[in-house]
Amino acid sequence: MGEHLLTVCYLIGSVAFILGLKMLSHPAAARKGNLVAAFGMVVAIAGTIFLYRDGETGQRLHNYTWIFSGLLIGGVVGILSAKKVKMTSMPEMVSLFNGMGGACAALISLVEFNHLSKELGEGTVKVASIQPTVLIIALGLIIGSVSFAGSLIAWGKLNGKVKDYSFTGQNILNLIFLAIALCAAVYLVIDPAQHFLLYIILLLSLLYGVLFVMPIGGADMPVVISLLNSFTGVAAACGGFLYDNKVMLTGGILVGAAGTLLTILMCKAMNRSLTNVLVGSFGGSNKSGVSIETKSQGVYKEISITDAAMVMNYANKVLIVPGYGLAVAQAQHICHELEKILEEKGVEVKYAIHPVAGRMPGHMNVLLAEADVNYEKLLEMEVANDEFKTTDVVLILGANDVVNPAAKNDPTSPIFGMPILEVENAKTVIVNKRSMKPGYAGIENDLFFQPKTAMLFGDAKKVLQNLCAEIKAV
Ligand code: TAP
Repeated sequence: MGEHLLTVCYLIGSVAFILGLKMLSHPAAARKGNLVAAFGMVVAIAGTIFLYRDGETGQRLHNYTWIFSGLLIGGVVGILSAKKVKMTSMPEMVSLFNGMGGACAALISLVEFNHLSKELGEGTVKVASIQPTVLIIALGLIIGSVSFAGSLIAWGKLNGKVKDYSFTGQNILNLIFLAIALCAAVYLVIDPAQHFLLYIILLLSLLYGVLFVMPIGGADMPVVISLLNSFTGVAAACGGFLYDNKVMLTGGILVGAAGTLLTILMCKAMNRSLTNVLVGSFGGSNKSGVSIETKSQGVYKEISITDAAMVMNYANKVLIVPGYGLAVAQAQHICHELEKILEEKGVEVKYAIHPVAGRMPGHMNVLLAEADVNYEKLLEMEVANDEFKTTDVVLILGANDVVNPAAKNDPTSPIFGMPILEVENAKTVIVNKRSMKPGYAGIENDLFFQPKTAMLFGDAKKVLQNLCAEIKAV
């Protein structure tokens, strides 16, 4: 009876994970999706604690003090840190929590190998019968340790504690570490009695994780975190195989697949290969890969706050393009204020969201949601590109690369091929940034020098405050 009930718990858990993940793909359902998946996890954990019985001995879990102490400590730390975290520090927290997942997977491998070793020593199992399990253990250990070490370095980089670091031949040394770890894993599968190999695999995998993430530019971290997230998923799925636990397997595979897809989507939206992100970034130290372009495009036109307020006040339709600068200035609330003031004046206002605007997936959506902007007003890139033709004014707030026409027109540009917001199709383009300095890709932007573009210099928050005041006064 208990066994069947446990299967039902795992089924509920698996279905909740799938539904939750599906709901996360839309801002309106995302919050509920998170709760649904969390509910599934509670059912799966409670089922395991109270209903699980060992297949051979029929024994239940008994070490409740350890289990509930762990649950309590983990739960309290998780709740407190999630409540405290600032929106801008979210990638850091995701990275840290992901690292904990990797560490769990690696620890499972260590503990389970020690069990097997003991049984092998006592002669209760034969080498041939445990070899498949040892293979899964070794894989879980390698992937989990890489994910743990890499995520901790990514966390350190995002909060500024760890600096980019690389040396000549680092990639080769890294590949050698990985190759030795894999050879040691194969040898361990062939001869599980050599259990010192397990610790060599652990050490090399941790080193690989550190050296793999160290040279990658801080701004490319979201792509790396997403990749490490998929590693943790695969490592957890290895745990699912070990324990013949379906819900662990489903959860692990979902995380692995979602992380891989997100990594691919981010690279696609930036028109960069994963190798380019990992080996030669333009977002990081610029040590390799793409060089910074410094060509000068000629003259640009400036617009005053008063004139910009006038133009927007008399427009029928205004599209706002938020970018990384809006996030830096924390100008989302005042941006929403401007939207409301313009609407009171009869202007239609919407937002055009580029998939990689900002520095993390969904950065702009999260930022604007924080300021209570109605998500119905957020247009995805394809929809926005159709609407620019009928737009009077595009107001660009701290965005640069995602509106750079070189991505379409200049085959020599490092961002050539990256889909962009085609803002130049609108009647007037107002660009707010603090200077003529380039953005993340380190290249100049033709848009700023086009006849229909006017530059509105200043910190996004300050500029928006002044614009609100001017428009109110018109
Ligand atoms: P960027 O191209 O980085 O441009 C941001 C602009 O904001 C800068 O040119 C900067 O110019 C301006 N700015 C900075 N602080 C400001 C402030 N306080 N007030 C006003 N303006 C300010 O940003 P984007 O257009 O959003 O493009 C995103 C880039 O990041 C893309 O190249 C993308 O590939 C990359 N990336 C994105 C992701 C994800 S998933 N979103 C992940 C990794 C990399 P000034 O210095 O002159 O002010």
